[in-house]
Amino acid sequence: MVEGHFGRTTRIRAMSEEQRTKDFLSRIDAKETIEPKEWMPERYREQLVRMMSQHAHSEIVGMLPEGNWITRAPSLRRKIALIAKVQDEAGHGHYIYSAVETLGVSREEVYRKLLDGSAKYSHIFNYPTTSWADIGMIGWLVDGAAIINQTMLARCSYGPYARAMLRICKEENFHKKQGMEIVSRLCRGTAAQKAMAQESFDRWWWPTLMMFGLPDEKSKNTAELMQFGIKLRSNDELRQRFIDMNVKQAQEFGLTIPDPDLYFDEDSGHWQIGPIPWEEFFEVLKGNGPCNRERLDAKIRAHEEGRWVREAASAFAEKRAKRRAKQ
Ligand code: 3HC
Repeated sequence: MVEGHFGRTTRIRAMSEEQRTKDFLSRIDAKETIEPKEWMPERYREQLVRMMSQHAHSEIVGMLPEGNWITRAPSLRRKIALIAKVQDEAGHGHYIYSAVETLGVSREEVYRKLLDGSAKYSHIFNYPTTSWADIGMIGWLVDGAAIINQTMLARCSYGPYARAMLRICKEENFHKKQGMEIVSRLCRGTAAQKAMAQESFDRWWWPTLMMFGLPDEKSKNTAELMQFGIKLRSNDELRQRFIDMNVKQAQEFGLTIPDPDLYFDEDSGHWQIGPIPWEEFFEVLKGNGPCNRERLDAKIRAHEEGRWVREAASAFAEKRAKRRAKQ
């Protein structure tokens, strides 16, 4: 018989901290879903706030490189798809910020950490989009990587995060498809269009592999995240899945993988890659990427320019609450 919420709360109240943690981990091992009002170790909550807030920041900063091409899309059809995608990313940020708030932190608090530069967001959005082919690569590669990661997170132990992922993954699949269509059209186009696609692919391939996090043996979070059932696969496992899927896809597009050490290992059945340039990754993480300053300035400016909207919405909500209180 599954214990009810009330029964569990009463039982847990009588436990020591150590017993509660043991009980909590047995729930994770039993693949139970943890809901906001239920007891959780502080480390579980901290890890979720860290990971989810950075995920939400990634979604809204991710709007910037693509938004840069809305006015320059090559056709009305491409413009409509790109506007829809960028709008979706804003919605994804909203879902995940809402999920973060179920952990007792306000959206303002986590957002302030984005604006003051103390919170991370996916490093890949600190790269520029210098050609239309980049919009195809972001849809195909970046959103493709996000889908692999988020499909796993849709089964994670924290209910609000897993449920947010379910809806986001559906929309990401449209993002990936429209990106692949852009790349496919360029690769079947003129020599100049094919060259544009290859030049862009060369720039996005390695940074996309870094999206899955540090190598497992270097990752300070993965072991704990897996113990908590937040991550169900390691960084390297997800990265390998991405590589196996997309080396084949790139070859079908007629693109050359920018990795002279790449080979197919018959024994393991996986593509093996050369060394990932982690020094570049750490430079971008330190703020020395091509667009770090530009991205943060854009978010700070948008936040300032949006101040009047927030103030008007709060004034309206306050007035309505006062009116309802009088009724
Ligand atoms: N960009 C920025 N920071 C990164 C990073 C990356 N690609 N990879 C790792 N890091 C940071 C981690 O945040 C951690 O720093 P912190 O402890 O100060 O937060 C440090 O580097 C060590 O890395 P770990 O590998 O130990 O960190 P994680 O185990 O947390 O793995 C992660 C990093 C894979 C990003 C993981 O946090 C995760 O899966 N997050 C949820 C998904 C997510 O955030 N995706 C971002 C892209 S969203 C996107 O592209 C949507 C698209 O539609 C716009």
